[in-house]
Amino acid sequence: VSRLLATLRRADLPDGKPTFVIHPPRHIVVVRLGDEVFALENLCRHADAHLLLGAVRGCTIECRAHGYLFDLRTGALLHPADESLTQQVYEVRRDGPDTWTVWTDTPPEGVESEE
Ligand code: FES
Repeated sequence: VSRLLATLRRADLPDGKPTFVIHPPRHIVVVRLGDEVFALENLCRHADAHLLLGAVRGCTIECRAHGYLFDLRTGALLHPADESLTQQVYEVRRDGPDTWTVWTDTPPEGVESEE
């Protein structure tokens, strides 16, 4: 069962600027590019730096700590090519011209899934 994590409006999401959404323990960074919105966990899977501080270029975000480059759509690591780790991404639904919602399938910390 999907769970609503956040409702975001265009005014909360400056184009191309990473925005923070509280979702412990790893939190979420949201990026809007035009009419598309992407959400992935904030703490970099490499060594837990904040992707919130990363540089957005095209549909990628570069972690400032060691330059790891992630695909905003899939969370896949694009650079360095010889490592494999994936940043968790969250489902984003567009609810109106200026509204998006962020969802997760993962139950809250400490709560057993009922399925
Ligand atoms: S912590 Fe992100 S690249 Fe190292």
